[in-house]
Amino acid sequence: MVAFLSGLPAGLSIDQSFVDGELWRRQQGYGRGGRMKIERDAARILSGVRQGKTIGSPIAVLLENKDWKNWQESLPVQEGDANKHKRVASPRPGHADLAGVLKYNFPEARYVLERASARESAARVAVGAIAKLFLRELGIDVLSHIISVGAEAISEEVPWQQIAALHSRGEVMLNCADADAEQRMKKEVDQALKTGDSVGGVFEVVAHCVPPGLGTYAQWDERLDARLAAALMSLQAVKAVEIGSGITAAASPGSAVHDEISYHRPGSFAGFTRSRNNAGGIEGGISNGEEIRVRGYLKPISTLRRPLQSVDFATREVVKAAYERSDVCVVPAAGVAAEAMVALTLAGCALEKFGGDSMSETLRNFNGYLEQLRNY
Ligand SMILES: Cc1cc2nc3c(=O)[nH]c(=O)nc-3n(C[C@H](O)[C@H](O)[C@H](O)COP(=O)(O)O)c2cc1C
Repeated sequence: MVAFLSGLPAGLSIDQSFVDGELWRRQQGYGRGGRMKIERDAARILSGVRQGKTIGSPIAVLLENKDWKNWQESLPVQEGDANKHKRVASPRPGHADLAGVLKYNFPEARYVLERASARESAARVAVGAIAKLFLRELGIDVLSHIISVGAEAISEEVPWQQIAALHSRGEVMLNCADADAEQRMKKEVDQALKTGDSVGGVFEVVAHCVPPGLGTYAQWDERLDARLAAALMSLQAVKAVEIGSGITAAASPGSAVHDEISYHRPGSFAGFTRSRNNAGGIEGGISNGEEIRVRGYLKPISTLRRPLQSVDFATREVVKAAYERSDVCVVPAAGVAAEAMVALTLAGCALEKFGGDSMSETLRNFNGYLEQLRNY
């Protein structure tokens, strides 16, 4: 896979071990399948970084699929030997298989599933890691944690310090801040493994120390909540996105939802404070200075070891759907991919607001804005 990232100022230090560490995080989590045992992702930066720093030109990152060596005969670039090609004979419900073959007029689903697969999200994590390094220069950090797996959920808001502590643990089971709940979530995965089924769940991405003023209500497609929702929804298997406590808010009175405003000097940014953060840090399409909290709701993995009904492409007979090796639960990994999408979105918004061709120029503009907020 090759990922491109353009628009970053020159002079941003790129820590290769941080980028590879992020790729490692995406490969973790209880309930992952065989492919993650084969792949050990590493980002090879091809352009746009010299002597450890960005130079302002597009950054190209290469990620090799180690598994490719096992597929050279079955999926060659050239025509190859048709007897060695591996067909996906019956479309799997929940995957792009059927819609993809109809759209591209393929006789079977092999080409569809390779690109529709969430393997692609590794490329996003690589460039998302670079966006995170940029945001760190502005004091902004982005992390995720797990709210639910299957029917097991936590209900309390998890403070930033706890999410950061979870992250520094260095091992990932289900990335849940509540150890008891994590054990119950593990049982959900075990049950799915035992019965040949799969599970979904909910992750939350939190962006810490985001100043007020990113995004705008001026045009519909410039709203920060809209941009974050699209960024998360673009991840495979995400079927709903929630900003703050948007879902429960729909059934609550306004007095229980909107976050009352106080003033406390010296406070963060302009000194205005909130007693709670139901808005998830965004009002009117603009960051309001509170933590940004967005959730992604994942449908259960589409590939089942106990396959659902499908139809054979060649005979049109009813058969069981094809089975390709698969994960059973990917909620923590999806959270890591979503962190990358949030980081890329926030970095884009920050660059629109602060601009700059070099990091020193960007930081000068950023610090000038912080001063403006302090003096407000
Ligand atoms: C990190 C990650 C890993 C995934 N791994 C698998 C997998 O191994 N098997 C599978 O069937 N689906 C997997 N999925 C989900 C599928 O990619 C998803 O169900 C499929 O793309 C269809 O959903 P869509 O309509 O949202 O694209 C994964 C999703 C994510 C985010």
